[in-house]
Amino acid sequence: MVIVLGFFFMPLQVPIKWPRSRDEVWKANIPHNFLAKEKQDQNWMTEKGEKIIFPGGGTHFHYGAGKYIASLANMLNFSNDNLNNGGRIRTVLDVGCGVASFGAYLLSSDIIAMSVAPNDVHQNQIQFALERGIPAYLGVLGTKRLPYPSRSFELAHCSRCRIDWLQRDGILLLELDRLLRPGGYFAYSSPEAYAQDEEDLRIWREMSALVERMCWKIAAKQNQTVIWVKPMTNDCYMEREPGTQPPLCRSDDDPDAVYGVKMEACITPYSDQTQRTRGSGLAPWPSRLTSPPPRLTDFGHSIDMFEKDTEVWQRRIENYWNLLKPKIKADTLRNIMDMKANFGSFAAALKDKDVWVMNVVPEDGPNTLKLIYDRGLLGSVHNWCEAYSTYPRTYDLLHAWTVFSDMERKGCSGEDLLIEMDRMLRPTGFIIVRDKRPVVEFIKKHLTALHWEAVATADADSDSEQDDGEIVFVIQKKMWLATETLRDSE
Ligand SMILES: *[C@@H]1O[C@H](CO)[C@@H](O)[C@H](O)[C@H]1NC(C)=O
Ligand SMILES: *[C@@H]1O[C@H](CO)[C@@H](O)[C@H](O)[C@H]1NC(C)=O
Repeated sequence: MVIVLGFFFMPLQVPIKWPRSRDEVWKANIPHNFLAKEKQDQNWMTEKGEKIIFPGGGTHFHYGAGKYIASLANMLNFSNDNLNNGGRIRTVLDVGCGVASFGAYLLSSDIIAMSVAPNDVHQNQIQFALERGIPAYLGVLGTKRLPYPSRSFELAHCSRCRIDWLQRDGILLLELDRLLRPGGYFAYSSPEAYAQDEEDLRIWREMSALVERMCWKIAAKQNQTVIWVKPMTNDCYMEREPGTQPPLCRSDDDPDAVYGVKMEACITPYSDQTQRTRGSGLAPWPSRLTSPPPRLTDFGHSIDMFEKDTEVWQRRIENYWNLLKPKIKADTLRNIMDMKANFGSFAAALKDKDVWVMNVVPEDGPNTLKLIYDRGLLGSVHNWCEAYSTYPRTYDLLHAWTVFSDMERKGCSGEDLLIEMDRMLRPTGFIIVRDKRPVVEFIKKHLTALHWEAVATADADSDSEQDDGEIVFVIQKKMWLATETLRDSE
């Protein structure tokens, strides 16, 4: 950790706060500036003194990201040119996201986008996204599945992402297909969609043929943008000629098993349950957040249990905020991670705060991440015995509910986890540990070495009858460098 600091020419800064961070960030906080240099001519971002500025929405779209989003909605005939379509579009996967301006400008329409980088060259853009306070995951569209369950997103988006969608029998498009809900859209903005030359024409022809065999239909096409729509049911798959490529996935394939699972070039059909409901059965946002998720039945959980869980976490969040209050202002926290998210009720209880939550679900537990997406929230699957796929200093608050107890059970090192949490945490960021007393004692022993400071300790017993001796321990990460070299971001 310490060694990394040696690379900086300028001291780290306390990140600029959301929503100002949508438009500007400190250069010093993003150690590799080559992307800024590369994109300077495209007007995505420019360097200005000690800051990087994202002008005109920070995309290559001539009229800015806001206008571009409205024109997508207009192409789909959504009322008021609002892409959220009355709350029916909420979760979006943005592939090859530039500096995530698409995701940044969707937020005002109550749409939340997970931005992922398409390949090694552009992973650095994920760091820009997180520094700006926009949800992003350092995921690579390569050979492994992205760490999201099937049918998680209502819309996938890619603009000039320079991905070869035709490679390996269309395996990357088939991964998007797995991730889209019934009737989900793929908005693709690229010169090929409005072919100018021979090569573009060839790519367009082959892509059109491929997605047709995948049963996608063109919903709209305009300028350099095409929007395809995925079928609502399996009917079209069944009607294909025998031997049509790509094939359907094997019936024993679990479309929601994602951690370290290799992609395959096959179509993921809908389950019988989805077939029966002819679609997702989702309530429109925002009632979707608190309605019982359609896939709750996959786990055999009752609606009553779900509603109790929602209530319990509402109380816990209130309690957490009281503990944090002396240390935070309204805009202090932006990027939050719930390291063991269960049903996503921690994130749901934060809905009135100007924050977003990365909900992490352990890869060896029940894969409740599909419930989290059903609620209109974002997340990923992870194993905390390993490093999380994000840049250093990208989260303002980490919530670790029984995560350390799990480490112990799995025989992984609690010390390694502490170091990983320190790596992910932004300067002056917070940790809330909710765990057994011996875990809290263990962490306390390491505070000095990590330059962390105890903020508060509370007995958790009072806020729910479910707790068995859990303690709430709030910690703040101090700045590493001498305070006189730091500037306030105000
Ligand atoms: C297409 O171009 C027209 C102007 O020529 C513009 O008004 C519209 O927003 C564009 N649509 C998209 C999807 O970019
Ligand atoms: C939008 O409306 C136009 C004009 O009525 C129609 O031609 C087009 O098919 C509609 N598109 C979609 C995606 O509904």
